Amino acid sequence: MEKLVSNWYNNRTVPENYIFPPDARPGKLTTAPSCDNIPVIDLGGDQTCIIQQILKASHEFGFFQVINHGISESLLKDTMGVFKEFFELPAEDKAAVYSEDPKKKCRLFTSSGNYDWEDVHLWRDNLRHPCLPLEESMQHWPQQPSTYRELVGTCSSQMRKLALNILELISEGLGLGTGHFRDELLKNMLLSVNHYPPCSDPSLTLGVSKHCDPNLITILLQEEHVDGLQVFKDGEWIGVKPLSDALVINIGYQLQIISNGKLRSAEHRAVTRSSNARTSAAFFIAPSDDCIVEPAGDLINASNPQLFRPFQYKEFILNYVTKQGKTEVVLEPFKLHA
Ligand code: OGA
Ligand code: NI
Repeated sequence: MEKLVSNWYNNRTVPENYIFPPDARPGKLTTAPSCDNIPVIDLGGDQTCIIQQILKASHEFGFFQVINHGISESLLKDTMGVFKEFFELPAEDKAAVYSEDPKKKCRLFTSSGNYDWEDVHLWRDNLRHPCLPLEESMQHWPQQPSTYRELVGTCSSQMRKLALNILELISEGLGLGTGHFRDELLKNMLLSVNHYPPCSDPSLTLGVSKHCDPNLITILLQEEHVDGLQVFKDGEWIGVKPLSDALVINIGYQLQIISNGKLRSAEHRAVTRSSNARTSAAFFIAPSDDCIVEPAGDLINASNPQLFRPFQYKEFILNYVTKQGKTEVVLEPFKLHA
């Protein structure tokens, strides 16, 4: 528990083992050129137009935001509220959930979860648990705040529905028809709630270092007006503006592979802030461990050779963890070289 950044950060200068090497740290430019760049897509509009926008954004940025997504503003506000409340709970309540055992289904931990092995620690605490199957997973979720299970249960069901809708649109846009994203590809949903306490020098630290998400697709709920998420595009980091009532959608490695490279999984990171804490919640939609993932056959032809070999999702995850998500090497074992 004493390792949690929220337990000791107060008024302290940044400890040595939280300082990233010069080429990885944000530097003075922590306010990246923000970001009317990341497309904002209105899901209430014309279907054909939406599909085109999603495909274009997923190809160019690997990221987009959605509005008019059908999840009520008050549910999103209340759910973000309960996440923030969780991190403000008294130490004894948090201690009930804190664990350094990666096998534990629901746990609060700090940094990457690999504290003893990593070179530099991340400036974040993290609460993580599965959301599916809902009834069973819920038994492991925090009991405090008292509304946690009900609110997060409702929100995660709606997030899942939204993810399935977006995947159907992507499937259609890729020309795969409906139902390409079969059950096994979306079997799991993991919730990861990030809490980034204020940091006295955000130019030296990172809340989450550069990575691409290993799963299929991610929906990220950000706090309104509290920025920190950055996406790497054309050689620079651009901020993803936290719009009210918008959700951030992020293409994971599995979608990049299934689309045979037509959609892009983009590098992103979270920077810290000196003025106040930031909380964000990522809902990761992921295949089952045994699921075989491979490029869709319909997307392969003489001018579009298959770029990746088939593999089991658990093989991908094992490799991702072993290589610590390093974007330069993590896809190598799965690439087919012509
Ligand atoms: C993640 C992530 C970014 C954020 O959890 O995978 O990229 O803004 N988080 O918290
Ligand atoms: Ni991520």
